Amino acid sequence: MRRVITYGTFDLLHYGHINLLRRAKEQGDYLIVALSEDEFNEKEKHKKCYFDYEERKHLLEAVRYVDLVVPEKSWNQKVLDIQLYQVDVFVMGDDWEGKFDFLKDFCEVKYFKRTSMVSTTKIKSDLKDDILDNMKEMRQDG
Ligand code: CTP
Repeated sequence: MRRVITYGTFDLLHYGHINLLRRAKEQGDYLIVALSEDEFNEKEKHKKCYFDYEERKHLLEAVRYVDLVVPEKSWNQKVLDIQLYQVDVFVMGDDWEGKFDFLKDFCEVKYFKRTSMVSTTKIKSDLKDDILDNMKEMRQDG
């Protein structure tokens, strides 16, 4: 069996994430997602999630391409994960291009082009803009 792993936060799961997960699964038979824990997100990635770890895990487990979700707790667990889960292919979006080439000593490393025009950050900011616009309209009407 060919095993694939990918890492990420996957907050407000969107179609860019689904494309990445689909393409990752196409690389093998079994897809593991190492999902960034809340503390790791806040302290190391400086990201505040809308959905907490258990909620994000629940969503990912409902995606047909995902076979197993495990916690990502630190930047340097990747080699151990690759050995522990007997990983053949490591996949990331191309926002990480070149950053994980050192893993080529342990498995194949692939970067996929990100889906354009969508990200969790953009969704959050677009919704915030919509709310501000609506508030402005309400003030003008009132
Ligand atoms: N990803 C992708 N295409 C997108 C958004 C994300 O292929 N449009 C990929 C990333 O490259 C990564 C994985 O999905 O391999 C998880 O990315 P994550 O950082 O959780 O998603 P983003 O939407 O980029 O979140 P943020 O805006 O918080 O950085």
